Amino acid sequence: MTDGTITKVELGTDGPEVGVQGLGCMGMSFAYGPADAGTSRATLERALDLGVTLYDTADAYGAGENERFLAPFFRAHRDEVVIATKFALSIPPEDPTRRIIRNDPPYIRQAVEASLERLGVEVIDLYYMHRRDVNVPIEETVATMAELVREGKVKHLGLSEVTADELRAAHAVHPIAAVQSEWSLFSRDIEAKVVPAARELGVALVPYSPLGRGFLTGSFVHADKELTAGDFRRQQPRFTGGNAAANAALLEPVRTVAEAHGATLGQIALAWAQQRAAVHGLPVVPIPGTRKPERVAENAAATRIVLTEDQLALLEPIAGQVAGDRYADMAFTSAGRE
Ligand SMILES: NC(=O)c1ccc[n+]([C@@H]2O[C@H](COP(=O)([O-])OP(=O)(O)OC[C@H]3O[C@@H](n4cnc5c(N)ncnc54)[C@H](OP(=O)(O)O)[C@@H]3O)[C@@H](O)[C@H]2O)c1
Repeated sequence: MTDGTITKVELGTDGPEVGVQGLGCMGMSFAYGPADAGTSRATLERALDLGVTLYDTADAYGAGENERFLAPFFRAHRDEVVIATKFALSIPPEDPTRRIIRNDPPYIRQAVEASLERLGVEVIDLYYMHRRDVNVPIEETVATMAELVREGKVKHLGLSEVTADELRAAHAVHPIAAVQSEWSLFSRDIEAKVVPAARELGVALVPYSPLGRGFLTGSFVHADKELTAGDFRRQQPRFTGGNAAANAALLEPVRTVAEAHGATLGQIALAWAQQRAAVHGLPVVPIPGTRKPERVAENAAATRIVLTEDQLALLEPIAGQVAGDRYADMAFTSAGRE
């Protein structure tokens, strides 16, 4: 870190070495309202300058649009970046507004070829199963993913929104480098079972939405009133109705800790996520999403903030008091299967 860049960490046993914080690229094409392409491109370059090397996308982000948007950046920096993408959220031909979960081998084969083509690369560094289709045994899904590794299309495997049992079953078929799940001051369900299983198996944790989709930065309260039409957060239970104001009040201790560090609320949320590594004894690489160069610098700087035991204790009760589910439709998460 002496040159001003962030430190590096191995992403799971035998996983790739990456900067200890990654960059979530979803918002550059999808979910969070209009994005300026030039500013997003500048964000990608700034991130790389800061030592951020893990770039997170998915075929589902804008139906391939996000992968296509990132392709020129990835090609220009192929040896410096670790490309993570995902399959499983499929668009049914009869209704392009819907998503169905597909984990079957023919679908995976079709999805990986489409991602490779859109990304314009020969190999995907980290290929995640985005969501679990309970109708397909996970062993079958991971066996197909392992074939992709043997064929040189994919280097490392990851799983998103899985239970501890699913992780164990998958890891028995082929080593899993990383589990990606929501993990933040507001969302700590995975600490009960998934995190201990990952630690035991040598699997890294990649917390998604570590800023609580921006809510933990204090930049908005009532999503339905403050965010633009089409923003996905306008439908989310935590940011709407009475829940929004109640949850905003939970940020008070975050503000207290931020003042003590001369930091922003978002930096404290990220420092907390990063410090899960020391608390739980496993590699943790949060992937905050931003489309703004100055924010990527602010977020990367959070990797240098260490919270004291007293500060961690102050933040400890927050998650237990959050009002509302993580998603409007929790059927798309691992929650009901754990
Ligand atoms: N596996 C999964 O199912 C799954 C689900 C969701 C997300 N993800 C991945 O995880 C990544 C991160 O999650 P996320 O984007 O949902 O949520 P997040 O990282 O918690 O928050 C992103 C939001 O915070 C804002 N933000 C970022 N830095 C900020 C700062 N310093 N100050 C104020 N606001 C700031 C961003 O706005 P600006 O962009 O305008 O800066 C954006 O609206 C995604 O990009 C995606 O790659 C995966």
